[in-house]
Formats: sequence, C-alpha cells, structure tokens
Amino acid sequence: MQQKSSNGRKQFWFAILIILLLSLILLHFNSSALIRRRDIIQSSVSNSLYFVNTRIDIEDGVEPVNRLSVNDTRVEPEILTLGKNTSEPVVPFPSIENGMKHVEENVIEPVSPIPVIKSPVTDNGVEMEHVDDLVVIKGDLKDVKANGVQSVNETSILKNKEEHVDKVVVAEKRRQVVSDPCSGKYVYVHIIPRRFNADIIRECRAINVWTDMCYYLANAGLGPTLENSQGVFHSKGWFATDQFALEVIFNNRMKQYKCLTTNSSMASAIFIPFFAGLDVSRYLWFNTSMKNNGAFALVKWLRSRREWKVMGGRDHFLVAGRIAWDFRRLTTKESDWGNNLLALPETRNMTTLVIESSPWHSNDFAIPYPTYFHPSCDQDVFQWQDRMRRQRKHNLFSFAGAPRPNLKGSIRNQIIEQCIASKSKCRFLACTEKRNKCLDPSNLMKMFQNSVFCLQPPGDSYTRRSAFDSILAGCIPVFFHPGSAYVQYGWHLPQDYKKYSVLIPEDKIRDGTISIETELQKIPREEVRAMRETVISLIPKLIYADPRSKLETLEDAFDIAVKGVIERVDGIRAQMRRGENPEIDVDTQENYWKYSLFGTVGEHEWDHFFFRTWNITSP
Ligand SMILES: *[C@@H]1O[C@H](CO)[C@@H](O)[C@H](O)[C@H]1NC(C)=O
Ligand SMILES: *[C@@H]1O[C@H](CO)[C@@H](O)[C@H](O)[C@H]1NC(C)=O
Ligand SMILES: *[C@@H]1O[C@H](CO)[C@@H](O)[C@H](O)[C@H]1NC(C)=O
Ligand SMILES: *[C@@H]1O[C@H](CO)[C@@H](O)[C@H](O)[C@H]1NC(C)=O
Ligand SMILES: *[C@@H]1O[C@H](CO)[C@@H](O)[C@H](O)[C@H]1NC(C)=O
Ligand SMILES: *[C@@H]1O[C@H](CO)[C@@H](O)[C@H](O)[C@H]1NC(C)=O
Ligand SMILES: *[C@@H]1O[C@H](CO)[C@@H](O)[C@H](O)[C@H]1NC(C)=O
Repeated sequence: MQQKSSNGRKQFWFAILIILLLSLILLHFNSSALIRRRDIIQSSVSNSLYFVNTRIDIEDGVEPVNRLSVNDTRVEPEILTLGKNTSEPVVPFPSIENGMKHVEENVIEPVSPIPVIKSPVTDNGVEMEHVDDLVVIKGDLKDVKANGVQSVNETSILKNKEEHVDKVVVAEKRRQVVSDPCSGKYVYVHIIPRRFNADIIRECRAINVWTDMCYYLANAGLGPTLENSQGVFHSKGWFATDQFALEVIFNNRMKQYKCLTTNSSMASAIFIPFFAGLDVSRYLWFNTSMKNNGAFALVKWLRSRREWKVMGGRDHFLVAGRIAWDFRRLTTKESDWGNNLLALPETRNMTTLVIESSPWHSNDFAIPYPTYFHPSCDQDVFQWQDRMRRQRKHNLFSFAGAPRPNLKGSIRNQIIEQCIASKSKCRFLACTEKRNKCLDPSNLMKMFQNSVFCLQPPGDSYTRRSAFDSILAGCIPVFFHPGSAYVQYGWHLPQDYKKYSVLIPEDKIRDGTISIETELQKIPREEVRAMRETVISLIPKLIYADPRSKLETLEDAFDIAVKGVIERVDGIRAQMRRGENPEIDVDTQENYWKYSLFGTVGEHEWDHFFFRTWNITSP
C-alpha cells in the first residue's frame, strides 16, 4: 500500500517534469518564430524613423499567439528602407488603370453622376428645390403665394430685385416630416459576393500563418471567452480578442444597427461588408503578387452597381481593421509592404475606417482598436466603470511592451530605462520573446488597473491597441506623439486631450531632458482625479458591444463610428447638391490632420511631429 502510493507519486512528478520540459520547448520555438515576424516598412517621420509593420508581433502583448500554427522555418521578411536612399529615382506610381487591367476585361458602363437635384417645375409655374427638410420655392411672389407658402423671405425679394434676377427665391416652407426616428440614419448594407467576406472566414487558416485566426474569430469575432483566473474581469463580457478582428466584429455589430434599410435610396450611407484587413493579411508576407486582387475585384464589383452611380461611391464606407499603411503602399514596387486599397480612385471617393489613419490623407478615419471587453448590456458597463472608480492603484505608472532595437529613433529603450529606474513608482511588463507575460490579457489588465498612468509610446507605428486597454482599466494614457491618439480618434476622444491624457513630447525623452516620473508627479492630485474620471467615463465610447446582443442606452464605439460616417456623407451630399466638387484625397494634403482636427491648416505646435521628409507616391 505504502509502496504503491509512493510509486504513484514518483510517476506523477515524472509526468509533471515531462510536461514542463515540453512546454518550455514549445515556448522557445514559438518565441523564436515570433521575433522573425517583423515585417516592416520604414517611413521617416519627424526626425525619427517609424516602422510601420504588420503589428502582429507580440511585443506589446496585444496579440496572443496560437502555438500550434507557428512555422519556425519561415525566413525573416526583408526590412525595407524607404525614403532613405535619396539617389533612388522617384518611380511614378503605377497608374491604377494599368494596375487594374487584369480585372478590367468586362468594361463597366460609365457612371452617371446625379449630384445636383434638378428643380422640378410645378403646375403653378414655380420651381421647388428640396434641401434637406426644406422646400425652397422660386418664382414670382404671386405664384409663390398661390403655392401655399407660409413664410416669405422679404430680404431675398429685395436682394434679388436689386440684382435684377427674374426668378427669385422668395419663400421656404418646411417639408412635412413624418416622424421617423431613423430618418437620416438609415444604412444600407451591400450584399457582396462571398469571396469578399464569408469565404475569407471559412478559410481562416490562411489569414495568418502564425496566428490561428479561426480561434480568434470565434464568438462572432470576439474570440474565445476569457477565464477570470486572476480575478481581474469582474463583470461578464471578456474575450481574448485579436486586434485585427475589428472588421468581423463591426460587420456583426452592423446586423444589430437599429436603422438598417433594404432600400438603398433611403440610406444615408452604404456599408460594404468586405474584410479588407483579413483579405490582405493573407498576402502581406507571401504570394505578394496577389495583394491587390481582392481590392481590385471589390471596386470593380462596386462600380457596376446601381448604388455606386448615385454619388460616385461617396456614400459608401467599409472597415479595414488594420493600420492605413497596410492599405497604402508607399512605393511602386509590388513586393513592398501593403496593398493599394486606399489609393484606388474608388476608395478615394469612399470612407474607410481603420485602426490607425494617415495624418496626410482624408479618406481614412481611425476608430478604436477592439479591446477585450464586449459587454452585452448596459449594466455590465456600469458595473465595470464603478469597479474601476473604486480600484486602488499601487503604481504611479507602468509600461507593457518591448524595445525596438532595430528602429532608429525609437524611444522605447529610454522609456524602459526610466521605468526601471523609478523602482517602486513604475511597473514594467517586459513583452520580450522569452517571457511572454503580455500574452495573457489578465496580466496586462491587472497591471493597468493598478497604475495611475500608462505609458503609450509609439511602436512600429504611431498607435497601439494598448492605449485602449489602459483606458478600459481606468489608467490615464501618457502619449509621446500626437499621432498616437489625438489626430486619430477624433470621433471618439475629446478634442481637449489634456482632459484624459498626458503628452510628453518624444524628442524630450530621446535627448534625455525630461523625467517621466517628475513630470507625472508634478500634476496636481485634483487634476489627476479629474482625468481619471474622464478616462472612466470614456469607456462606453471605446468598446465594441457584444454583437449578439444590444446595449440598451449606451452608444458604443460602433454607434459613434457610424454616426461619424453619416455626418461626413451628409456633408458631401450637401456639397454635391450645391453643385460643388467634394474634395478628393490627393497627396498634397500635408496638413490634413490639422484640417480634420481644428478646421484650419495654419502653423501648429505639433508641426514638427508630422514633418515629412518624403512624398507618398500616389496615383
Ligand atoms: C513552413 O514553411 C516552409 C517554408 O516556407 C514550408 O516549406 C513548409 O511547408 C512550412 N511548414 C508548414 C507546416 O506550414
Ligand atoms: C541608392 O539608389 C541608387 C539608384 O537606384 C543605387 O545605385 C545605389 O546603390 C543606392 N544606394 C544605396 C546605399 O542603397
Ligand atoms: C432670406 O434670404 C436671404 C438672401 O437670399 C438669406 O441670406 C437669408 O438667410 C434668408 N432668411 C431666412 C430667414 O431664410
Ligand atoms: C425606396 O425609397 C425611395 C425614397 O424614399 C422611395 O421613393 C421608393 O419608393 C422606395 N422603394 C421601395 C421599393 O420601397
Ligand atoms: C500561395 O499561393 C498558392 C496558390 O494560390 C497557395 O497554394 C499557397 O498556399 C500560398 N502560400 C501561402 C504561404 O499562402
Ligand atoms: C468619384 O466621385 C465623383 C463625384 O464627386 C465622380 O465624378 C467620380 O466618377 C467618382 N469616381 C469613381 C471612380 O467613381
Ligand atoms: C514632395 O512633392 C512636392 C510637390 O511635387 C515637392 O515640392 C517637394 O519638394 C517634395 N518633397 C520631397 C521631400 O521630396
């Protein structure tokens, strides 16, 4: 009896040892593969160089990785150095016409623009023009009065008389508005061929060779449910969400949109349920000649549609759940990073929602990265917010991330050094290869919850998903570049960035003239309290609700994004009605970020952050 149980114990420990060894080996292979998957486009911005990469690397712990799908034999993709070799001749961007030849065999009927509403002549010899909910009536006074007008605009009569205009705008009357809560909010969803969405999901293994996206696309795109192993997820609705799953979540969320219509003439905007990011993801590293096929085929299909002709696609929108640089290749070389989705004449007429937009372009708009929290009712949100209000914080600040040794000008090293030097004040979660603590959302969320401030330096590109995770945890984000949030999420974040965040200019970190700890401690207690409250109040606006249910009263990031799109399209529609030409995105808009943020393009204190030493070669 005694002997037996002792034997059993030995076997037990032996088994544990084997399991430990196996997992160590797995972990090793996993991480060595991960360091290789840095696929980078370098763009020089300001004095520093940013690598705009695929951001499927794990340094920031934002993308947990399925170990089974790692292929360790892949070669490291080449690192590009665009804009550096100034002696390199500037090659013109391939004309889109050429680029599209292979998908253009069937010529599509020409687009018939219908921008300006022709004023119909009524029985009484007056012209009527419908402008939003007004009817503007033109004609002479007698005829107009016969038309049942309530108010006559005397100023307009006088003015027009002075100018000797025959037909005068003399009256306006309010159109009979049937009270429809959805009026002006309708969205029509295009039914597009399966190859643009359903097939991509069905063949989810091909989306990413390192990450099993089939796993992360479970639960309507939210990913697998998270266990509350460390007691950090106090309410329901937590999932291991992939940062590139936004398109699927958005599409499913659209199915819940309260003002869908099947009549496109009634729609304020037209949604294209194309999974642009998942589509291109399959070809970013391999088979790169296929990168543009999806985008080209989609716009060809769109242009053949009746709905396109109404506004030349200017009422169309789609979600491309990656950073803009993945869809706006900087050079003519097909093998270079990204496809051309955002540079096509069609998409330049449309609105594309991305997780990071280009500060220099006007057709892409940034909306929040998905976080791990996808509540299914208001109560779950309120409960979480209350919890974050009561949360005690032990660290002044914290940072979860990895250095960027190959990235010239990166401030990650200095950030990490400062954090470590701050000892008890700062917590650093190293998301480097061997210690993948960041892979577990519990670790990240726990640290953020325990910190007053969370450092969010640029990584491979300006933005990080981590900024949204930290806000979710009631941690005040500290940015080092305005491109990390302020010029990005204009629909979702307050314009007065000081209300919810701290900006420490990256050049001061780079030249070592500023101490993060001192800066943060300088902020008065009351101010910190107010910022924290603002951060917590932002939570509902930055999360994507569980698309399988509905929040009762709260507007989530999806609602705000759709509102933003509709407002933009309404503006364009009004311009077209007035016979004006709405702007087309061209690359002369060096200052577009300013224009969208402040409505002006004058000098700004942030100009040096966005100083471009290169031209984006656009068609
Ligand atoms: C791993 O990648 C190599 C090189 O591309 C390829 O030959 C091999 O078939 C891949 N193995 C798996 C299991 O995907
Ligand atoms: C820069 O480009 C020119 C022209 O393509 C080439 O001859 C030269 O070798 C390049 N220099 C470097 C350092 O790559
Ligand atoms: C009346 O007409 C003038 C000139 O067309 C216009 O500027 C003004 O806004 C109009 N007033 C009202 C109340 O519509
Ligand atoms: C679609 O909406 C337009 C504009 O409201 C309307 O004139 C038309 O009759 C509607 N078509 C159908 C089939 O309901
Ligand atoms: C590249 O394309 C070929 C043909 O479509 C396919 O068989 C292969 O799996 C693709 N390779 C990768 C890595 O996706
Ligand atoms: C873009 O919109 C304009 C109208 O503003 C239209 O004339 C043009 O044909 C559209 N482009 C495409 C590719 O449809
Ligand atoms: C970018 O293009 C503009 C207009 O062609 C030109 O004036 C400017 O010098 C270019 N800038 C760089 C850095 O090449």
